Amino acid sequence: MAEILPESDALPRAVALLDAGAVVAMPTETVYGLAADATNGEAVARIYETKGRPRFNPLIAHVCDMAMAERFAEFNALARRLAEAFWPGPLTMVLPQKPQSGVSPLVTAGLDTIALRWPRGFCARAIAELGRPVAAPSANSSGRVSTTTAEAVDADLGSRIELIVDAGATPVGVESTIVKVDGNGLTLLRPGGVAAEDIEAAAGVRLTRGAKSIEAPGMLASHYAPNANLRLNAGEVAAGEALLAFGPRRISGAEKAVAMRNLSETGDLREAAANLFSHLLELDRSGAGTIAAEPVPESGLGEAINDRLARAAAPRDS
Ligand code: TXA
Ligand code: MG
Repeated sequence: MAEILPESDALPRAVALLDAGAVVAMPTETVYGLAADATNGEAVARIYETKGRPRFNPLIAHVCDMAMAERFAEFNALARRLAEAFWPGPLTMVLPQKPQSGVSPLVTAGLDTIALRWPRGFCARAIAELGRPVAAPSANSSGRVSTTTAEAVDADLGSRIELIVDAGATPVGVESTIVKVDGNGLTLLRPGGVAAEDIEAAAGVRLTRGAKSIEAPGMLASHYAPNANLRLNAGEVAAGEALLAFGPRRISGAEKAVAMRNLSETGDLREAAANLFSHLLELDRSGAGTIAAEPVPESGLGEAINDRLARAAAPRDS
């Protein structure tokens, strides 16, 4: 069972757990978040495991000041204006990610953009103390509603986490507004705690309200796909192929692979999830026309790994 600590006492313990790669439920001003060190892939994999999410949706990276924000994303004048107007606060901006930013690719689901938010409250203090950003989706299991009290978090996830930080009911009560900043254009990806009109006023730009459901599978499918073809459930490697291995066994023809990465030598699904996007990217860079991917078991995080592999293997439009 999770320990529930009042926010006045919880900082050292919460930060020690984050530093050790654990997930901690903690309040932001919008809803409770399930937080983990965004630079630690296995810690981020634990978020998906704890939520029982069958898919790797990209997560919001939470920061505690502009200096930290600018380590991870490119801010143009428009993004800077919005940050000045609404941070800290319930606004998330999707921005171009800086290369080698150090954020686990599992946070961004392999995209070259990153969703950043500087929240208010305990979460921001924990980030400052940790010195690293935290990834935090809403603290609810997959398919359940977001939580706005420690009791609600406990009822949903209490058996799966070690610590819940209690700050009472969250003041905003709905998730952050998400906007994508694209040059001088702004797209509303999710309505939330900051009114769209207020964003338009501060930005001096009209919001495009095109993309309704960012969680729609189709949209995510088009986000990231390797240039190479992906051959799923490979039982052998053909000449010229790269190999995405899983587990200790070497499949036949493995020595012929033009490049090889192993998601987890020991068959650990958490490690495999943490490696998934970086390994796919590296194999893609090898220039191989086809990446042969060994089967991954469908249990636990395997479901999300297989979902992502299936999307990467799906036929594309262009
Ligand atoms: O208020 C909030 O935003 C809360 C608190 C905990 O901060 N967090 C939250 O996270 O609602 P989550 O994971 O439930 O929702 C994040 C949304 C997802 O729908 C995801 O698809 C989208 O942000 N997202 C993240 N990165 C993205 C990116 N690079 N491009 C487009 N959408 C992105
Ligand atoms: Mg959510």
